[in-house]
Amino acid sequence: MVICLRSVSQLSHRGGTKLAHVRIGVLASGRGSNLQAIIDAIKTGRLSGEVVVVISDVPDAMALERARREGIDAIYIEPGSKRARLSEEAESRIISELENRSVDLVALAGFMRILSPRFVRHFKWRIMNIHPSLLPAFPGLKAQKQALEYGVKVAGCTVHFVDEGVDTGPIIIQAAVPVYEDDDEEALSKRILAEEHRIYSEAIQLFAEHRLKIEGRRVRILPESEHDESTDRDRD
Ligand code: GRF
Repeated sequence: MVICLRSVSQLSHRGGTKLAHVRIGVLASGRGSNLQAIIDAIKTGRLSGEVVVVISDVPDAMALERARREGIDAIYIEPGSKRARLSEEAESRIISELENRSVDLVALAGFMRILSPRFVRHFKWRIMNIHPSLLPAFPGLKAQKQALEYGVKVAGCTVHFVDEGVDTGPIIIQAAVPVYEDDDEEALSKRILAEEHRIYSEAIQLFAEHRLKIEGRRVRILPESEHDESTDRDRD
């Protein structure tokens, strides 16, 4: 099965290139540096879109503060009592907040909850995540620590579509960084984070340009010349 993603966003024409203005909803639980990188990429014109809402399961998340500073709607949603997941009610509220703003893409940026199959199906192939390892190595928590302890010589990060598993969805972009002899978790995390900030916006921009085509587990990146609307097919 081949699926070419088309966002429901409006197409605009710039310099003869068709670009979509992608409406992004960000889910974040913590400091929000990836959120900030996305906002900055939009400001500098590297990303053609808009963050229309930031939602967090943590009331005092720095990500919410960053959103407010930028004049973006910032919403705390009480997650319920399940540890790693959200209550059904919390997920329904998140879906409503995203749908009310006609979000094209849900970007997970340090969101520490596992989304239910219902949520994933609702936004099928319209949810991305950034993970601080070269998946499929080291999924889950503390990926950088896992990489160091395993003894890898190359680490990195991955932007992927979210499917119903944990860190298992089709890979869009990866970036590698070296692991140095004297690295500790903090030093390695910092090196990886710089790459995260770069590739997340790149992946979202490719989505905006309708240049991501899912073929089984593979995500093909179409060359600029092929990102014509006529090649798009509806998602199933
Ligand atoms: C990043 O390392 C990201 O890869 C992981 O959680 C961290 C979030 O950092 N999923 P920030 O909140 O974006 O600064």
